[in-house]
Amino acid sequence: MTTNVNKVNSSETAALIKKAKETLVANDLGGYTVPTHGLYPFQWNWDSAITALGWKHFNEPRAWQEIEVLLDGQWDNGMVPHILFHQDSTTYFPGPDVWGSDKRVKSTSISQPPVVASVVKDMLETADDKTFARGKAESLFSSLVDYHLWWYKERDPLNTGLVVSYHPWESGMDNSPAWDEALAAVPCVDWEYERRDLGHVDSSQRPHKSEYDRFLFLVDFFKKHKFDSEVIFNECPYKVNDIGIIAILHKGSKDILALGETLGIQDERLDYIAERIALTQSAISTLWCPEAQYFYCRNVLTDTLCKVRTSAGMLTLFAGLANTEQKEILNTKAQQWNAASQYCIASTHPEESRYEPQRYWRGPIWLHINWMIALGFENEGFQQTADKLQSDCRALVDLSGYYEYFNPETGAGCGGKDFSWTAAIALHWLL
Ligand code: GLC
Repeated sequence: MTTNVNKVNSSETAALIKKAKETLVANDLGGYTVPTHGLYPFQWNWDSAITALGWKHFNEPRAWQEIEVLLDGQWDNGMVPHILFHQDSTTYFPGPDVWGSDKRVKSTSISQPPVVASVVKDMLETADDKTFARGKAESLFSSLVDYHLWWYKERDPLNTGLVVSYHPWESGMDNSPAWDEALAAVPCVDWEYERRDLGHVDSSQRPHKSEYDRFLFLVDFFKKHKFDSEVIFNECPYKVNDIGIIAILHKGSKDILALGETLGIQDERLDYIAERIALTQSAISTLWCPEAQYFYCRNVLTDTLCKVRTSAGMLTLFAGLANTEQKEILNTKAQQWNAASQYCIASTHPEESRYEPQRYWRGPIWLHINWMIALGFENEGFQQTADKLQSDCRALVDLSGYYEYFNPETGAGCGGKDFSWTAAIALHWLL
């Protein structure tokens, strides 16, 4: 994106660039980048995609390798898992045994927001070495199509236009208040376990035990049903239309069609993707709440909207899913949302009763989400809003460096330190 924060070539900027590159190099485990050591010691799906955007600024081959290693863990049915367990670690729970992974590359049995296709398109368009990048994009293209077909066929077999997610972790916004009601209907596990996240990060910034008990019940449920798509679709006790996943998938699908054109690829599966794009565009209005004037997620099992304003609703702009009137409304809302805290768009609106500025996805700011939101505003012609988000994000990095997420009131860094996607977004967008 071209938004222009005051790009003074100060020594401060140079030091931040250096630190961002060092962060990625330090988190590189040879072909893939961990989000941060200790807390997240494996390869995460959307982290890797976002992190490749950082790598490409100083090592294009390494950026492509990040995506190749991620897609190497793709299941035969097209799913790209949310975590790939390339090697063992004692610092994370639940690991491969709990997930019951039976694949060549051990993995979880759910996915994560599919931002990877949009990243590949960006990497091809901005590559210094175009021939090399084109070769890489060509070789990855079919896997990207398979991945998107998996979302549509397995997660929307009834052709509603809105895919479902089966686990809060699939949304990438793991502990969002949008999941509270849907998750409360999930039973708790009845076995004892030891969480490892609390050994790295203060418990005030992490989910409660009552939520973890249910997260694990779902993991057990997938394993018990041997990852059978049909059974899980019919019986899963948690089924949500996540506006974040739906928007990111939609944007990725459009980018796949554009990539196919650039690469001159003839593939009849692309016609199917085009049909699904049209279907989602016509179904999206059912997630718009006329009273709140905002896009919400929906609990599919109770057919009710999850009425809490989270930043995921703003991703509809990134996807090009909002109509003319909705765009104007979202622009006004973004400005108010931004003004309600010291810095950019908090993950949960500060006026919501469930807002908590420090707790994981219930208030803190994530830079990659703000980047996608800003890109959406920029693409839709709201440059001022995009610029404000960008300068606020830059201020956060200046103040606190590359933390996992930030307190929207104080700007303090929270969660994991020396975090890959924060450093990557800094390199790609802020510096
Ligand atoms: C947390 C986040 C998720 C992210 C992962 C690794 O689980 O909620 O979005 O992918 O950490 O950074």
